[in-house]
Amino acid sequence: MERTCLAIILAAGESTRMKSAMSKVLHPVAGRPMIAHVVDALASASIADVALVVGRDAEAVSTAASTGSVNVSSFLQKERLGTAHAVLAAREAIEKGYDDVLVVFGDTPLITAAPLTAARERLAEGNDVVVIGFETADPTTGYGRLIVEDGELLAIREHKDASEEERRITYCNGGLMAISGRKALDLLGRIGNANVKGEYYLTDLVEIVRSLGGRAIAVKAPEEELTGCNTRAELAYIERLWQQRRRHELMLAGVSMVAPETVFLAWDTELAQDVLVEPNVVFGPGVRVESGAVIHAFSHVEGAHVRAGATVGPFARLRPGADLGPKSKVGNFCEVKKAEIGAGAKVNHLTYIGDAFVGAGSNIGAGTITCNYDGVNKHVTRIGENTFIGSNSSLVAPVSIGSGALVASGSVITEDVPADAVAFGRARQEIKPGRAPILRERYEAEKAARKKINASE
Ligand code: UD1
Ligand code: CA
Repeated sequence: MERTCLAIILAAGESTRMKSAMSKVLHPVAGRPMIAHVVDALASASIADVALVVGRDAEAVSTAASTGSVNVSSFLQKERLGTAHAVLAAREAIEKGYDDVLVVFGDTPLITAAPLTAARERLAEGNDVVVIGFETADPTTGYGRLIVEDGELLAIREHKDASEEERRITYCNGGLMAISGRKALDLLGRIGNANVKGEYYLTDLVEIVRSLGGRAIAVKAPEEELTGCNTRAELAYIERLWQQRRRHELMLAGVSMVAPETVFLAWDTELAQDVLVEPNVVFGPGVRVESGAVIHAFSHVEGAHVRAGATVGPFARLRPGADLGPKSKVGNFCEVKKAEIGAGAKVNHLTYIGDAFVGAGSNIGAGTITCNYDGVNKHVTRIGENTFIGSNSSLVAPVSIGSGALVASGSVITEDVPADAVAFGRARQEIKPGRAPILRERYEAEKAARKKINASE
């Protein structure tokens, strides 16, 4: 679009209804602050200039909003006197002169580019104020109602100020509004606070612009995109909607999910085509899974790169820095942290691999532990290619195992093992022929003696 645009994000509210020690816009949706989702939507609508209005937790909110390529400048709203008052905190930015001023809320994280662009297009057609609205079956939660007649928006009535009849209207204000940049400051300056809450309502702009002979309209967007977050219950609802939307997108892009409703994604989870995700899998931030990989049931994956054809779980935990090579396997009750598992290597059962390199084709036996921490510092374990680490071995880092080496099960390895060597790190087994019956006889006699004492007491 040729027209210039300033987006103003309102995020200064007290978040009273959230009952939280931090501003609601900092609460995470899909593992990232709500406000960052809003900034992302603006970026995907090609809006580069953003004024952020902050109040409570100003610094943290500004930091959380500085994401991607968007140029965000913060403005402090010193007192919380309502949404119109908040917009005017960004007066300096508006004064720079933009064709469009787009007001969005920091507590509406499901918004996408489409309605923002649609609102700007309607502004370009000559409307002065364009409000993004939605239809809802249940407007009782306190949304402002859109009063529309013959395609024109006459007014927005806040729930608290609405009459019984107006409250029955199901067309609601999504809280997002595009305003003619040329008129914005004049219109905002005319808003008063004569209402139930005694606040300066941005929504009054509609009646004001009409009284001056201007045009206001509403455009409809899907309800879910405009769901606002005021309480913890709404936060959980928004999370659910976000998850549903993203799972659906991924499935359409070729990812298989057996029970999608039990798979939890992070905002940046990347699952390639032909990845299979079994039930009850949780992805934390920073995960990339390549084509053909399988994430078996009940796995927890965070900050990990799972390469083509690798398999994870069931019941595996991948922590940040886990890098699983092509066709490698990390099986049940294994934990991998900051470690590279080479192509085709197998870590199948009950194992911890941390701060380590495991070469291609190596087989790590059940119960192997890389002892990477001495209580103060972390140390690295290097395991070459095609090694065999016997079950229940402790590899005390720093230590390295050369390619082709074999570690006997139950070993505690404290010194480097050269390539192709066999290492025993345990006492050797002794055999005493015929000794078992003698021992058993002695045990029987001890048991009989104990019984006799008990009976005489
Ligand atoms: C607002 C709308 C309502 C709409 C609903 C949609 C007004 C008057 N009402 O109501 O019509 O249906 O959103 O979700 O606009 N904020 C500030 N400073 C303030 C007050 C608010 O920055 O002084 C910010 C908040 O942080 C929040 C946003 O503005 O991000 C909206 O405020 P909120 O109190 O949530 O408004 P609602 O009552 O939900
Ligand atoms: Ca709200």
